[in-house]
Amino acid sequence: MTNWIQEARRLFDYTRSLRRDFHRHPELGFQEVRTAGIVARELTALGLEVSTGIAETGVVALIEGALPGPVVLLRFDMDALPIEEQTGAEYASRTPGVMHACGHDGHTAIGLTVARLLAAHSEDLSGTIKLVFQPAEEGLGGAARMVAEGVLQNPRPDFSLALHLWNERPLGWLGVGAGPVMAAADAFSVHLAGKGGHGALPHQANDPVVAAAQVISALQSIVSRNVDPLDTAVVSVTSVHGGSAFNIIPPAVDLQGTIRTFAPATRQLVLRRFDEIVTATAEALGCTAQVNLQDATPAVINDSGVAGRVQRVAAALFPEAELDRHFQTMGSEDMSLMMQDIPGCYFMVGSADPARGLDAKHHHPEFDFDEEALPRAAALMAAAAVEMLCS
Ligand code: NI
Repeated sequence: MTNWIQEARRLFDYTRSLRRDFHRHPELGFQEVRTAGIVARELTALGLEVSTGIAETGVVALIEGALPGPVVLLRFDMDALPIEEQTGAEYASRTPGVMHACGHDGHTAIGLTVARLLAAHSEDLSGTIKLVFQPAEEGLGGAARMVAEGVLQNPRPDFSLALHLWNERPLGWLGVGAGPVMAAADAFSVHLAGKGGHGALPHQANDPVVAAAQVISALQSIVSRNVDPLDTAVVSVTSVHGGSAFNIIPPAVDLQGTIRTFAPATRQLVLRRFDEIVTATAEALGCTAQVNLQDATPAVINDSGVAGRVQRVAAALFPEAELDRHFQTMGSEDMSLMMQDIPGCYFMVGSADPARGLDAKHHHPEFDFDEEALPRAAALMAAAAVEMLCS
């Protein structure tokens, strides 16, 4: 039997040097030209059939097993964030204002390591591994573009797997939930239009600032009064813009924010109440509201059969690990667009090391993780992929 941990550890220098190189040279969504070039170079060096330029910078490669069997899609994201890095690390970003602050540098390096691990065993594999290196996961729609450009066809995957390094939890922890694991995300914007006027003569105006204040307060009642207390949801107003002077009532105020839910019925309920509350509250205060909801990312829902198999693989591979079989987060991930079509499992690999100061949260300018998580993640992904080939 293959010792995936030992084999992944043997590639540690390879994985770490790739990760640090990607970290030094982060690229924003759909601009991962250098990163994708290295990915394609490494996959080609393994003798794989490689396709590039999918959804701008996406890369897809196939590892054909010696025997027929299912197709398993493994997805890794490659993009960085518009953040000025403050880690002070030797391998810190050399691109001002751009940083790998979510760990996708690690994911790309893990993906290339998994490719090497599995390519070395292709003689023993029954089926096909479809490696997908995705651009623009951070809210720019990379998965949607890849799906539109046919990543789920030729060959069509039977199963899908993806992972995230997880700095919310320490090295040694693994999160493999069944059912909903990441939330659906809706982004909203609201334009509240009233009637501007003199700050000293409010009776001649319809004040959208007061309307905005009441709308923001009233929205808090959706989660506390409408959503089943045993279910969960988030409604966050994250941006308020209006006015320009201390003595002028502005004609309009603009709000933005996000709605997170797991169950589709809850999502419909929250969206309906959102619209009702905003519209009626604005109207009661003599204003009008224009509500815009932007393209939603669906919830990431792990197939119970696939998740059960990944849980068994994780428990066997890392008997000492703290394995959370009920992991959930209100974060969201566009891998859901592939997983709603292809049954799969999205799992988390604990990567924080508080003793070494490597526990800043995702999307923070000091974000960095314990690189020991890299071979663990690669070993688990390789072992889970081989498990899914054994149908
Ligand atoms: Ni991420």
